[in-house]
Amino acid sequence: MSSQGFSEYLQARRAEIEAALAAALPAPPGCPAIVADAMRYSVTAGGKRLRPVLCLASADAVGGDRALAMPAACAVELIHTYSLIHDDLPAMDNDTMRRGRPTLHVVAGEGMAILAGDGLLTEAFALLARAPAATDPALVARKLRVVGLVATAAGPVGMVGGQAIDLACSAPDAAGHSAPPLDADGIRIMHSKKTGALIRASAVAGAIMGGAGDGTIVQVDAAAAELGLAFQIVDDILDVEGVSAHLGKTPGKDAAAGKPTYPALYGLDVARRMAAECLERAERALRAADLAESRLMEIGRWIVHRSN
Ligand code: IPE
Ligand code: IPE
Ligand code: MG
Ligand code: MG
Ligand code: MG
Repeated sequence: MSSQGFSEYLQARRAEIEAALAAALPAPPGCPAIVADAMRYSVTAGGKRLRPVLCLASADAVGGDRALAMPAACAVELIHTYSLIHDDLPAMDNDTMRRGRPTLHVVAGEGMAILAGDGLLTEAFALLARAPAATDPALVARKLRVVGLVATAAGPVGMVGGQAIDLACSAPDAAGHSAPPLDADGIRIMHSKKTGALIRASAVAGAIMGGAGDGTIVQVDAAAAELGLAFQIVDDILDVEGVSAHLGKTPGKDAAAGKPTYPALYGLDVARRMAAECLERAERALRAADLAESRLMEIGRWIVHRSN
């Protein structure tokens, strides 16, 4: 690892990511301004950029060329932003604040928010297909592998599936029936899908684009699965303990909506311990690939100890 501190590393990667995201967003005249503006509103509202940073750090950790991972880094952030826009809709979590701004449906209407989400999701795959430009069969093969893994992570066996479990647990169906409460396995599976899957794909995509071998990819995948679960456990904890001005979203909503969360099932202390245990397991996986001293581990500590 270089002698650069983690906060400098984070700042440098974020600056690159902001520039690449701005360049990747569709614009008029091809894209109607009304939906281009809506997409830009949510993407540029200032998220932590955890997923793209993880993707780039993963390429770095395996000794790859970070530039080759930038399209995947942007793609996962576009998909993540779409998931937030839809997560906040009245039909889902019904939130009015996100990334310190009024949610997109509040400012642009529900229809435009749905379409901006659709646009971000599809544009992410257009980006993965076109960049990095490649004719070398080995690089084309890496790109195709990343398209498949990001699609699986974002779709019904990943994020969409997890969000469906969350929704079924939070709201009665059309006949007024609610899903039975989740047990330990149920909540772990839901969190691993709704949040873990995309975080996992972010790290693995970076490793693949960085040219890692299969043995390393397996360990990065195992570590990122733990970090993805830890991320949502901490998100649940922050919903209880966090401060709106710092979070950029409204805390206290999970309990009010009767959501299945780690603090609700286990209490705050056990939930905190479980997040720390995820980090320990992630470290073991990274150590097995000789990556425990990489930025990936610093990102893991950030995930568990963050306050927003
Ligand atoms: C929030 O994600 C939604 C979850 C998946 C828990 P982040 O906390 O990464 O949100 P931003 O990108 O920083 O706004
Ligand atoms: C959202 O989980 C996970 C997504 C896939 C967007 P939450 O509903 O807990 O995320 P926040 O707390 O609204 O950011
Ligand atoms: Mg939600
Ligand atoms: Mg939500
Ligand atoms: Mg939450």
